[in-house]
Amino acid sequence: MTILDHAMLPEWHPVLLSSALTDQPIAVTVLGEKVAVFRTSQGVHAFKDLCIHRGVPLSLGKVSGDELVCAYHGWSYNGCGTCTRIPSLPRDQAIPSKAKAFVYDCVEALGLIWVCLGKPAAPLPPIAAHVPAGYKEVFMGPYALQAAGPRIIENFLDVSHLMFVHEGLLGDTAYAEVNDYHVIEEDGVLRSEEIVVYQPDADGTGRGVNSRYVYEVFSPLCVSLTKRDDVSDHIFRLFLMVLPVTEQSSIAFMLKQRNYAYDEPDEVFVQFQDHLIEQDRRMVENQKPELLPLDLQAELHLKCDRLSIAYRKKLRELGVTFGTA
Ligand code: FES
Ligand SMILES: [Fe+2]
Repeated sequence: MTILDHAMLPEWHPVLLSSALTDQPIAVTVLGEKVAVFRTSQGVHAFKDLCIHRGVPLSLGKVSGDELVCAYHGWSYNGCGTCTRIPSLPRDQAIPSKAKAFVYDCVEALGLIWVCLGKPAAPLPPIAAHVPAGYKEVFMGPYALQAAGPRIIENFLDVSHLMFVHEGLLGDTAYAEVNDYHVIEEDGVLRSEEIVVYQPDADGTGRGVNSRYVYEVFSPLCVSLTKRDDVSDHIFRLFLMVLPVTEQSSIAFMLKQRNYAYDEPDEVFVQFQDHLIEQDRRMVENQKPELLPLDLQAELHLKCDRLSIAYRKKLRELGVTFGTA
């Protein structure tokens, strides 16, 4: 498959939780491309998931002695993709120079493994610079969704759905009005002004408060929201990082930070998020068109959709085509 999206190729895409990648390779799909990811003592690696010998996925093989060994005929590739051993080759014969795996850039950051299919625009995903230290953290998901990545991101940035899709939890239909707000762009990050939402159960612990939301967009598929309230110094921050698997299927990784309720089991927050995602799933998996329309004439927008409008404009400016229409 040829990926024609020149805007998404230099991006880092989250593919796995660090904890999921242990001693054996795992197959993932990024922008429709099959990739084998594995770990050695030198770090994490990503290869095109295809052995050049007979086209077997390298992810079917195993990691042995810091090399990836193909399951079919045992060719062994080091972390740079060079084939170092062909068991069937007589010892006096050289390994063909073309015997290589196709290597993608791969890094480990924020508790995730990230892959870039093109030339990375930066050494780390841009979101890495915006995750503050010192908070209690918990991962949620990953959640597999049959929806385009940009649709999932826009749903996360959409404040006026909270009172309806998450009624009784993140909103109340009796308080559905959204205050006016603006979106600014600073150093490539889109940021909303505060948006106040009355929430009967803001975080799964049953606390009813007026939450003040600030949304941020760091890259086409990496965003966050930060909530504060008027009655406590609680900070609740949620990062959403989406892997575009195909144009209409994605995997959502979520990292939650909090500076309170340290004794509350993480499971409380995870279960709450699992429930919210199921509520969102009904929307994002049924939206038409499936791909996010970047032509602002295509759907009807209100003032409260300013952030969605800014997001669509940004994707258009960047030239994102994968998952958009
Ligand atoms: S197909 Fe991989 S070694 Fe033959
Ligand atoms: Fe939602």
